[in-house]
Amino acid sequence: MTTDILVERANGVLTLAFNRPDKKNAITAAMYQTMADTLVGAQDDASVRAILIRGSAKIFSAGNDLEDFMKSPPMGENAPVFQFLRAISSAEKPVVASVAGPAVGIGTTLLLHCDLVYAADSASFSLPFAQLGLCPEAASSLLLQRVAGYQAAAEKLLLGEAFDAAEALRMGFVNRVLPAAEVDAFAASQAAKLAALPASSLRATKSLMKRASREELQTQMAEEAVHFGKMLVAPEAREAFKAFFEKRKPDFRQFD
Ligand code: COA
Repeated sequence: MTTDILVERANGVLTLAFNRPDKKNAITAAMYQTMADTLVGAQDDASVRAILIRGSAKIFSAGNDLEDFMKSPPMGENAPVFQFLRAISSAEKPVVASVAGPAVGIGTTLLLHCDLVYAADSASFSLPFAQLGLCPEAASSLLLQRVAGYQAAAEKLLLGEAFDAAEALRMGFVNRVLPAAEVDAFAASQAAKLAALPASSLRATKSLMKRASREELQTQMAEEAVHFGKMLVAPEAREAFKAFFEKRKPDFRQFD
């Protein structure tokens, strides 16, 4: 278990907190594994009644660790990132997220699998997959347009530009925007409210709401993973990752 994810259990709420602020909470394979194992364990643990995911005060997550992407791209459906995506997308217990600062890539797409999302006024969101020579993951190519409409989703997924909490609220995947100093406490209080409700009712409500799209979502995620896996090792993505660490703009004109 890595300490880059803090796991706490208190009063029925399981909290997963990104804790790698020096690398902007970029998510490594070890961090995905810890989150996946913890979420799977929570499924049958009656002491867990709600789950809370949060970042640090100034950064939610810079998304997948780009060094990991370069050195050990996820291979096969049992790669930790895919275990994590399966676990969060099929979590039976309610999941609340608290977002302050930037949420990049999977930092944003994981929110589409949370039930309640609270954002600080300092939060920003971005889906820079095309900018990195990649394509959407976590079923975001399906879920974002479902929540926000096609054109709004296409703008965010094709251009990859960052947008603020007010826009995320308008798009529909954030429930409420709060002052940065209040967001974690508010999200925690919402999780505590859920933990006090009958678990069986929450489970049934969530399951009924998700039932119709369950299979479609898993199929979309599997299809995205096929493209994503090929693109991760293609020259466009290699150029984008190298450019990030060399602190320069990538040059995609060399590719068709
Ligand atoms: N993977 C690996 N390392 C990352 C990272 C990532 N996704 N994001 C940030 N880091 C590291 C930087 O390399 C830097 O390390 P260093 O101090 O050893 O040089 C450190 O975290 C601080 O990052 P920096 O870019 O200087 O912070 P910032 O405040 O200027 O910008 C972000 C913050 C999140 C906007 C910016 O780091 C960023 O765009 N990161 C990449 C996001 C991304 O493309 N994610 C993948 C999506 S699929």
